[in-house]
Amino acid sequence: MNVLVGVSGGVAAYKAAHLVRELGRRGHAVRVVMTEAATRFIGPVTFTGLTGAPPVVDLWDARYAGEVHVELAAWADALVVAPATANLLARAASGVADDALTATILCFDGPRLFAPAMHARMWAQPATRRNAARLAEDGAILVGPVEGALASGEVGLGRMAEPEAIADAVERLLRRDLVGRTVVVSAGGTCEDLDPVRFLGNRSTGRMGYAIAERAAARGARAILVTGPSALATPPGAERVDVRSARDMEAAIGRVRAEADAIVMAAAVADYRPAALATDKIAKSDGPLTLELVRNPDILAGLGAWRAGPRPVLVGFALETRDVLERARAKRAKKRVDLVVANRAADALGTTTNRAIFVDDDGDETLPELDKRALADRILDWIGARLGQLGRPGAGN
Ligand code: C5P
Repeated sequence: MNVLVGVSGGVAAYKAAHLVRELGRRGHAVRVVMTEAATRFIGPVTFTGLTGAPPVVDLWDARYAGEVHVELAAWADALVVAPATANLLARAASGVADDALTATILCFDGPRLFAPAMHARMWAQPATRRNAARLAEDGAILVGPVEGALASGEVGLGRMAEPEAIADAVERLLRRDLVGRTVVVSAGGTCEDLDPVRFLGNRSTGRMGYAIAERAAARGARAILVTGPSALATPPGAERVDVRSARDMEAAIGRVRAEADAIVMAAAVADYRPAALATDKIAKSDGPLTLELVRNPDILAGLGAWRAGPRPVLVGFALETRDVLERARAKRAKKRVDLVVANRAADALGTTTNRAIFVDDDGDETLPELDKRALADRILDWIGARLGQLGRPGAGN
């Protein structure tokens, strides 16, 4: 693969040489683009020696015949900025393109990764947190920073992740292990209409399911995203099916379930819906109002009962406010699913990170706090491993 390494101006820039060498050792073609400030920390000639080509520093360099940022962006399969200083994060987050590196970042539409490195106080600043969160929201992966000795001699959270860890993250980003698989993902909350203007809903944003669909598509799968109303953009490469109520969602999943190698129910499906849908807006009166609710279908349990063999692999979520593990285990047995991803409502709802427990045949595994995209990858790793055990359909299974 072609990996473009962006280097911005911080002390950790010297470690970018190790990253470039490590990526080369793993068989990738590497090119380097540096900020002017980075050249104060590490000589461009070092990268010429490691990659065989001089790094791009100056957009206006007469040696470049055309638009070098356009050419670099078209060449790259992945872009990794290491180190990413606070200044670089700020410029990248707001779409500034005033030098070779930021112009290339803005021109590149593939997977991108930032390895922040700065003094712990700069990383802790609300402005920097905002910029990092904005980049993540826009689809970038952030690796680190990690806790450790800083250039100032102090210890804190601001050190760049080690080059091997960054190279691992680049490879995870480039993985195409789900080519030929179909993954159906439900996401968001369902809306159960009461009348033409009101509905019963919940606080799900859809982020978890969208992250799974995004990563499944990026890893080569056909990703079908069945989503309740959500403000999120369709992940690149995913097929999106918009639904409103639980019953719409059940029907939409029913139409594609036979094609699926795996179905992940990340949606917050309403358990109840109003017994009747009023054709006119329900008018207020002085007294209390009683709503009659009826049960919605349990889509996941329905899939568990429908499935005759081990396919499609079924993954459910269990969002709990207490007795997380016990309830997740009970749900897994009752709904006949392969993996239950359990989490606490406080850790999962309306957040960008999640702390989850995987509950499967082998017991349970508690994961560290992860960005939802990183958790999506863990879930897809689990699915990929299970599908690997099952073999390809028609191959004696
Ligand atoms: O029982 P509980 O709602 O906690 O189960 C959560 C899991 O079941 C989630 O994966 C959710 O998407 C799925 N579910 C469903 N249909 C429902 C309720 C939940 O598929 N009516």
